[in-house]
Amino acid sequence: MNYFRDKTALVTGAAGGIGAAIVKQLRTEGARVAVADREVAGIDAEAHLPGDLLEPAYADGLPQAAFDALGSLDIVVNNAGVITRGSVINTTDTDWALSLGVNVEAPFRVCRAAIPIMAERGGGAIVNVSSCWGVRPGPNHAIYCMTKAAIASLTQCMGMDHAHQNIRVNAVCPNEVNTPMLRTGFIKRGFDPDTAVAELGKTVPLGRIAEPEDIAEVIIFLASDAARYMCGALVEVNGGKPVG
Ligand SMILES: NC(=O)c1ccc[n+]([C@@H]2O[C@H](COP(=O)([O-])OP(=O)(O)OC[C@H]3O[C@@H](n4cnc5c(N)ncnc54)[C@H](O)[C@@H]3O)[C@@H](O)[C@H]2O)c1
Repeated sequence: MNYFRDKTALVTGAAGGIGAAIVKQLRTEGARVAVADREVAGIDAEAHLPGDLLEPAYADGLPQAAFDALGSLDIVVNNAGVITRGSVINTTDTDWALSLGVNVEAPFRVCRAAIPIMAERGGGAIVNVSSCWGVRPGPNHAIYCMTKAAIASLTQCMGMDHAHQNIRVNAVCPNEVNTPMLRTGFIKRGFDPDTAVAELGKTVPLGRIAEPEDIAEVIIFLASDAARYMCGALVEVNGGKPVG
């Protein structure tokens, strides 16, 4: 397959578990990719745009920086994210600002800047990474769930508002994925991550939790012309495991 010959892409959270798989698959399919994360030096890509998404000027400038580096901008994947745990009464002001800043405000800023760039050149595709907890509530992660619901809603609204400009905006909603985000959570709670991942896999009808590649492949599909009639969709990728 060569889905993305002559295409260019910006991926945030490119150094993370799912991000690294997205970048690899985009490049395998022929895209030239600009990678954004706090540290990007070790990532194979056509352009490196390190920075902190909590800085508004950095998030606002990312699409233009990717365009300048690559000569065009066809695809944006808003993948960076942070998870904070706890119910509302355990949530600090710091957790609130971090979660809203990375999971909602940054993708809003990136989309707001990317859409005019794409529209001027005939269109594009944006894929946001939400969560199964963005479409249904999950226990003891109130602010994380709310941020993922916010990006899910923003995806649906942008999908509607910008379809006429040939810009398709969709989101993936994974359940558990075997990435540093999940594994560090287990370590913080005193569990061995390999054992915990194996145990968690038993709760999934397909028999295992997702690997980053399982999610990246759906993102690749949504970014490609194969998904040309999908706009504003929230695609659950959960191995058959619904949120309980
Ligand atoms: N792992 C899961 O079980 C799971 C499930 C559902 C959804 N998700 C979502 O998938 C996406 C990717 O998560 P992952 O599991 O690969 O996590 P990860 O922690 O491996 O990767 C997240 C990346 O985002 C980057 N990032 C965070 N804050 C940033 C900031 N302020 N500026 C720049 N970069 C920043 C991190 O440096 C990291 O490389 C996230 O949006 C996450 O919410 C993950």
